[in-house]
Amino acid sequence: MAEKVRLGVVGLRNIGQGHVASAQKLPDAEIVAFADSDPNRLRDACAKSGSARTFANAQQLFEDKDVEAVVLAVPNHLHASMAIAALNAGKHVLVEKPMSRNAAEARDMLAARDRSGKVLMVGMNQRFRPEHHALRELIRNGELGDIYYGRTRWCMQRPGEGLWTRGDWFLSAEKSGGGAVLDMGVHRLDLALHLMGFPRVKSVNAATFCRLANIEMAQRGKGVMHVDEAGVALIHFTNDAALILEASYYLNAPRHNEQYTLLCGTKGYAEAAKQVCAFAVDKDERALALPPVTGASSCVEHFVRVIRGEEKLSPTGEQALASMDILDAIFESARTGQTVQLETAEACT
Ligand SMILES: NC(=O)c1ccc[n+]([C@@H]2O[C@H](COP(=O)([O-])OP(=O)(O)OC[C@H]3O[C@@H](n4cnc5c(N)ncnc54)[C@H](O)[C@@H]3O)[C@@H](O)[C@H]2O)c1
Repeated sequence: MAEKVRLGVVGLRNIGQGHVASAQKLPDAEIVAFADSDPNRLRDACAKSGSARTFANAQQLFEDKDVEAVVLAVPNHLHASMAIAALNAGKHVLVEKPMSRNAAEARDMLAARDRSGKVLMVGMNQRFRPEHHALRELIRNGELGDIYYGRTRWCMQRPGEGLWTRGDWFLSAEKSGGGAVLDMGVHRLDLALHLMGFPRVKSVNAATFCRLANIEMAQRGKGVMHVDEAGVALIHFTNDAALILEASYYLNAPRHNEQYTLLCGTKGYAEAAKQVCAFAVDKDERALALPPVTGASSCVEHFVRVIRGEEKLSPTGEQALASMDILDAIFESARTGQTVQLETAEACT
C-alpha cells in the first residue's frame, strides 16, 4: 500500500478545525505540520496532535520537505498568494472556497498549477454529500432529460450571531472580495453547475444589496459592512438553459438558512435541500430511485484520494474558474446595472 499523504494545514480557526477533524479520520493521511499566525491557535492544534510541527509563518510550512500537500483554510485575500507559493514549493494544494477574490487571481493560480504539475483543488464541500453524488449520476444518466431551468440559493434571513462573530475580514471588500453572493452563493452556484454538467455561460444579469446589516452593525457597535448582504442573478447559458442564483446574509423573508436547488429538465425535476437532502421525480411526479454511489464524503478525503490516483479531481480548476468568471460578472452587472455578456471556458468533466 502507498504511503500516507503527509498534510500541512494552514489556518486553524473555523473551517480549518473541520479539515483537521476530517483528516484525522483518514487512514491514508496524516497531518505533519500546522501553521497559523495566531500563536494561541497554533498551541491548541499542537496540544491535540502531538508530533506535528508548527509554524507561525505559512511559507516556512511550504518549505518543509516532509509536507507533501497543504490545506489552506485562511481568509480569501490569502488564497491566491498562498496557493501559488505552495505550488511553487512543489506541494499539492486544497484551498478553501471561494477559489479567490476574483477570476484574475484564479487564473494566476491555474498558471502556477500548470507550471508545478501538482493538484490544485478548491474545497466545494457540498459536492461530497452522498445524495449530491447520486443526483449527479442520475442526471448524467439522462433521467431528467435536458436540464433547461434551475433555481439555486443559500439564503439566511437573519444573520443571528453567525455573522457578527465571524472574522472581521468577512466584512471587508478588500479581504473577502465579496459578501453573501461570493461566500455562500458560490456553494450553491457550484452545486447547480456541477449537477447541470457545467454548461457554458453567455450572459449574467444581477443585483446586489446592502440595506439592513449596517443598521444592526451600528446598533451592536461593530464596524461597517462593505460587501453585499444579499444578491440575485439570472445566468443564461449557451445551450439556452437559465439559472437563478440567490444568496443572502440578511433578508426580511420567511425561513432561516435555506439551502435549496431545483433543476427542471425535459423528463422530470430534482430538488436538493439541506433539510430534505435530494430527490428526483419524472414528469408524473413518480420518484426516481437515486443510483447507489461511492466516493469521498469530505473535501480532504477527496483531495487525498486524488493525490493517490484513486479519484478524479472535483471540481477541476477550470470549473472553479468558471464559477469565478460568473461571480465577477454578477458584481459587474450589479455595479453597472447592465447585462454582462461572457463566454466561460469549457469546464465539463
Ligand atoms: N466550505 C465551507 O463551508 C466554509 C465554511 C467557512 C469558511 N470557509 C472558507 O474558509 C476560509 C477560512 O474561513 P474561516 O471561517 O475558517 O476564517 P477564520 O477567520 O475563522 O480563520 C482563519 C484562520 O486563518 C489564520 N490566518 C490568518 N492570516 C494568516 C496568515 N497570514 N498565516 C497563517 N494563518 C493565518 C487566522 O489566524 C485564523 O486562525 C475562507 O476562505 C472561507 O470562505 C468555508
